[in-house]
Amino acid sequence: KIEKKIDSVLKLMTLDEKIGQLNQYTGDRDATGPITNNPNKLKDIRDGKLGSMLNVRGAKETREVQEVAMQSRMKIPLIFGLDVIHGYRVTFPIPLAEAASWDLAAMENAARVAARETAASGVHWTFAPMVDIARDPRWGRVMEGAGEDTYLGSKIAFARVKGFQGKGLGNLDAVMACAKHFAAYGAAIAGRDYAAVDMSDHTLWEVYLPPFKAAVDAGAATFMNSFNTLNGIPATGNAYLQRDILKDKWKYTGFVVSDWGSIGEMVDHGFAKNKTQAAELAIKAGSDMDMESRSYLPNLAKLVADKKVPVALIDDAVRRVLRKKFELGLFDDPYRFSNEARQEKELNSPENRKASLSMAEKSIVLLKNNNQVLPLAKNLKKIAVIGPLGKSEKDMQGFWSIAWEKDNLVSLYQGLKNKLGDKTELLYAKGCEISDSSKTGFAEAVEVAKQADVIVMAVGEALDMSGEAKSKTNIHIPGVQEDLIKAIQATGKPVVVLVMAGRPLIFNWTADNVPAIMYTWWLGSEAGNAMANVLFGDYNPAGKLPMTFPRDEGQIPVYYNYLSTGRPAKNDKDTRYRSAYLDLPNSPKFAFGYGLSYTTFEYADLALSATELKMDGKIEVSFTLKNTGKYDGEEVAQLYLQDKFASVVRPVKELKDFQKVMLKAGESKKITFLINKEKLSFYNQQLKWGAEAGDFKLMIGTASNNIKLEKDFALVE
Ligand code: IFM
Repeated sequence: KIEKKIDSVLKLMTLDEKIGQLNQYTGDRDATGPITNNPNKLKDIRDGKLGSMLNVRGAKETREVQEVAMQSRMKIPLIFGLDVIHGYRVTFPIPLAEAASWDLAAMENAARVAARETAASGVHWTFAPMVDIARDPRWGRVMEGAGEDTYLGSKIAFARVKGFQGKGLGNLDAVMACAKHFAAYGAAIAGRDYAAVDMSDHTLWEVYLPPFKAAVDAGAATFMNSFNTLNGIPATGNAYLQRDILKDKWKYTGFVVSDWGSIGEMVDHGFAKNKTQAAELAIKAGSDMDMESRSYLPNLAKLVADKKVPVALIDDAVRRVLRKKFELGLFDDPYRFSNEARQEKELNSPENRKASLSMAEKSIVLLKNNNQVLPLAKNLKKIAVIGPLGKSEKDMQGFWSIAWEKDNLVSLYQGLKNKLGDKTELLYAKGCEISDSSKTGFAEAVEVAKQADVIVMAVGEALDMSGEAKSKTNIHIPGVQEDLIKAIQATGKPVVVLVMAGRPLIFNWTADNVPAIMYTWWLGSEAGNAMANVLFGDYNPAGKLPMTFPRDEGQIPVYYNYLSTGRPAKNDKDTRYRSAYLDLPNSPKFAFGYGLSYTTFEYADLALSATELKMDGKIEVSFTLKNTGKYDGEEVAQLYLQDKFASVVRPVKELKDFQKVMLKAGESKKITFLINKEKLSFYNQQLKWGAEAGDFKLMIGTASNNIKLEKDFALVE
């Protein structure tokens, strides 16, 4: 039915109006890319030269701009898009932090809440989820994705798309998702944003593409291409990615928006000689909408007239855009999302804040808890909060929170106050700035620390230290913060360090010397309350790292599922003619999948229903998981597989399943996983997906480097 409606609209449109649908401008207030001066925006909308705007938000503002579109000859409504990366007014933990929860339902719900607030603000489209696999913490955008692992990343991509799109486009609480950045943006050489990507087809297909496929399977309405070149070809002008893979092989019916200016940037790449040629290359390659490069609008008509671009390509792109406008119900009522009363009710509602708090608790990773320093007792007399992030509200939101408001954010200090009231005296000293080199505040901080029973330190990154264009060569905790930790630790008082950051940081001295460490990332609106709940054991932490934490920048890229080598290092000391470093072990500081709880878990009784798996069969794997500690708690049991011998060298292990399980203190549960051929499949030398008969190793563990149970089995013809 919609296709017929699109036909009838298309028939009435001039070529210029069609090209207009493929053009997207930014609004003026929240620029998310380099701004070029454009005084003609409203006139262009009225003239039918625009299909979409980004960075226009709010029920009133979107209505006003839509009214201008309704003055155009064809009266085709605009789509409004925005980077709702981790919440709209209520901010959620940054996506990498959420990934640490390994809780798919919670992540889906976080996206659901964000979608409700977004849709109530007149916005139809979020440029999320970012599903780029990221193995390099120097790249600032690791904060926006789900980390390094393809299996976990694909599951999260699916959940997030479902969350944003809810029961489907057309519902008033659903926004279009956008799987980005297609493709391989996360593998920028040396972690430098926008840099080239050079990778084998194997790595592309096995590691980087599956989360995008998962987004397609979840029904993602749109895709965004990426700034990078892939093996010498800009993704924006890459027909292999956008046409052959996405639109042909995966039969994708949504539309692809370019990244900001990326069509024009093909000139800077030296791939197109001018914007005219860039427009030709991009539309041919399958980029449907031009975000802010102003390449399509001035050039496509002439390219059609010169017979360089078939009009059928324009029609196909316009059809994809109109399809989404119909699905969103905008042709029935272009203002249906712009409802101020709904906006008032929805934004920052107690229910939304509750969801953010719960997500924040789940995102915290307990890295160390020697001598059970944590959870803290609730009857302490004096607690000192020390560190430059202790009273910070604004940094709690994390990068990419466009619609946040300052008074909606809870600092650590405030969270502790909320929890403890007047029962406990809360002391505070900043100690130092986040990145300055001055230590003049140390003396006061030490004095404050000496008066307290326990010191909670808040260190890490300011919100603009990880994110787009925030690449770094030095990912140690910035400034003199680690020196401050040393000074406070020297008081001999119990110290708990909370690291708040957008990426894995390096803090070896702290990791080796401080008894209790929690990685809290940037947790969003309810950050302080969530941290307080975990510190005092009202929530038992269960987060597991979705990315490897290196010991040193020199190890990067370091990830758990590396390919086998002919000369593996047998241990950290044996470096002679081995794949190893002379000055550091290969192993990371904290491994993928690692994270502690206040309780302990025991893995036992591994059983396989068979040790031979037929190609069309399945094996049931079962084991007993027991909570052996004093607290109720959750464990993420992880299943890894290794193909021991194959026609293409395989990783040493790969995550292939996991379960997050709640167990009461002392409780045991039988956990089961199923293994079938799909879980053993890979791309062979001809890039054909399939499994090869042979021997496999099954590993079940609490982290990628802490395998508790293992057994071999065989896949047989
Ligand atoms: O969605 C973003 C993208 O991730 C980076 N460039 C700008 C876009 C729109 O804000």
